[in-house]
Parts: sequence; structure tokens; C-alpha cells
Amino acid sequence: MFVPEGVVTNARMSRLMDTSDEWIRQRTGIGERRYARRGTSSCQLGVEAARRALDDAGCGPSDVDLIVFATMTPDHYFPGNGGLLAVGLGMETTPALDIRMQCAGFLSGLQVADAFIRSRSYRRVLLVGAECHASLYPWTDAEWAVMFGESDGPVSPEAYAWGTAHRDRAVIFGDGAGAFVLEAHEEDDGRGFLGFEMHTDGNHWDKLYVPGGGSASFPYFSPQMFAENGQIPVVEGRQVFRLATTAMPRVVRDVLGSHGLTLDDLSLLLMHQANLRINEAVQKTLGLPDEKVFNNIQVYGNTTAATLPLVFHEAKAAGRVRPGDLICFTALGAGLHWGAGLVRM
Ligand code: ACO
Repeated sequence: MFVPEGVVTNARMSRLMDTSDEWIRQRTGIGERRYARRGTSSCQLGVEAARRALDDAGCGPSDVDLIVFATMTPDHYFPGNGGLLAVGLGMETTPALDIRMQCAGFLSGLQVADAFIRSRSYRRVLLVGAECHASLYPWTDAEWAVMFGESDGPVSPEAYAWGTAHRDRAVIFGDGAGAFVLEAHEEDDGRGFLGFEMHTDGNHWDKLYVPGGGSASFPYFSPQMFAENGQIPVVEGRQVFRLATTAMPRVVRDVLGSHGLTLDDLSLLLMHQANLRINEAVQKTLGLPDEKVFNNIQVYGNTTAATLPLVFHEAKAAGRVRPGDLICFTALGAGLHWGAGLVRM
């Protein structure tokens, strides 16, 4: 994993908008998040994470047969980040696939990588999830300085009013990147991905989306779109909250059930980190003890496609991932896409 060094605490956020450490912690469990500085892109974060993952796997860029890159904050509207990552790693013509499934992007990438490896299309897949959400917001240098604790402000009344109007979304996202190297394992010893259970309900597309900048607008981008903040995600937070707390427990049970397993067989549930209260509700519904879950939203916020590798990496570093463990990944995100995947370590 790789996260930018800029820590933005709730106290700093409350200098930019009408919010408080108490509100953010109580409603989301988030205490701080990382923001990439101006000039750092999601692909650059992804390159750093990919280098670390390749080192950890004991291989180099030339050993990779396919890149899969999941992000909802790519460097450019097009092309996607996959090819840019290849350039950053010094690769020449390694194929690259871009996934745009938001918070379910990394989970979907795991399924895609697993399927390609099983079908023997590719032997080694580099899967990257990376996001730079902070760049979605039109903060000026003055607000950035307040965010990073380099100035105490105050910010202009206009900036404060803008921040307050977008506070529900502004406080939940954070920047970061994570990467997995997935490779063929020929021994039949039960290790590896057992399977996935994935769903999409496009009827809920407008619960969480970016209204401007696309072929549904005409033209794609316009001064009016920016004047109306059309580039900022719209979130029907309560509805997404409700859908997440019902869909994730169901899909976890389903993926276990389809492999003849139960929650008793599970060693660890690694959930997408959109809101600690969502994850607590999922844990409660499933009746899982604390030793079977691991969360790190408290220090990173919702890092969208980077979340699952971040939470996996930190659970592993904390000694919570052991050989033979049965781990379930689950996520729900804009689309709406949701699902779960099971892996035997
Ligand atoms: N600080 C202080 N007050 C706030 C803040 C804030 N940061 N944000 C909202 N409020 C206020 C609102 O103005 C509102 O005040 P009012 O009652 O006076 O009108 C009140 O708090 C309640 O607002 P809600 O938006 O209903 O707040 P809620 O408790 O639902 O929390 C949140 C919002 C955190 C977004 C929550 O709904 C949530 O986490 N939803 C799920 C998000 C999610 O799962 N996303 C999926 C993945 S993201 C992806 O795929 C890209």
C-alpha cells in the first residue's frame, strides 16, 4: 500500500466547513484521512503501491503479464490509468485493463484477475486500486494550506459556504493506493480464490454519481456545469447506507453458502471502508466477533478502489492474516455494484 504523507484531521476539516470532530467520528468513525498534494495523481500513487507489491512478491515489472487498474479518479478522462501505470513502471507493451466500478472496483479486479489466471490467459496479474479524491474539490492554495495545518486561516466566507454545502461528501473520502500481485498456483492444496458472488443494480445509479462531464450532458463539459458544481459527486447517503447494510451481509452469506461454508469457517471479513457504522451494522447482522473483522477507516477515510488492499495489507501487518485462513472480501459502491470474494491463504 502507499498513502500520501498529508494527514488531514477532522479538526482541520472543521476550519474549512461547518463540521466537527464529534460529528464526523460519531456518524462515520473517521478521525483523519490522507490527501495527495497538488500535482500528485492517482496513477503516481498506484505506481508506488505497485512497486511495493512487486518487491513483496519478489518479482519485477517484466514478470507481469497483465495490469488491471481500478479507479474512479483517473489521471485523465481518457485514456485510463492502466497504460500510464505501465509507463511509470517502465513496461513496454504489457496489456492493461481499466475498471471503473468505484468502491467495488478492486473486488471486481480480483475476480477478473482470478478468471484470467484460471483460464490460463495470463499467469501473473498486477492489480492496482488508487484514488485522488481531494482533487475533485475546487480548493485554492489558501484552503490547501489550512487543510495541511500550514495556516490556520480563516478561509474566505465563500470557500467556507462551499465546504459546508458539500460537507457530507467532503469528510468521508481519502486518498491512497494499494496493489496485489496475483499469480498461478499449480498445487491443489486448497489455497487461492475459491469464488465470487457479484451483483449490479443499475436502477440505483443516481444514488451516488457525478452529474456533469459525460455524454449524457451536452456538451460533455461546460462552464455552466462547473458553475453548478456538476463535477462533484451527488450522494443519497442514507439510502446508500441502508442498501450497504442489507446487501453486504447477504452476499457474504451467499458466497460462503455456495462453497458449502458458514460464518464459523470464516477467519476474517474485510469490508469496504465507506463508513464504520455500516461495517458495525454488517458485523452485528452477521453476529461476527471483533476478532473476525478489521477496519482502518479511522485513519484513511473511504479510499474507494484502494480500500480493500489497504485494509488487507494492514490486517496482514497486524498478524491477522495467517496461512490457511479463510478470508472474505466484501464491498458495495456506486453503480450500484456489490459482491464478495473468498480466498484461502
Ligand atoms: N458535519 C456536520 N453535519 C453534517 C455533515 C458534516 N460533515 N454532513 C452532513 N451533516 C448534517 C446534514 O446537513 C444534516 O443536517 P440537518 O438534519 O440539519 O439537515 C444531518 O447532518 C444529517 O445529514 P445526512 O446527510 O442525512 O447524514 P448521514 O448521517 O446520513 O451521514 C454519510 C452522511 C456519512 C454520507 C452517510 O449517509 C453514509 O456514510 N452513507 C453511505 C455512503 C456509502 O456507503 N458510500 C458507498 C461507497 S462510496 C462510492 O462508491 C464512491
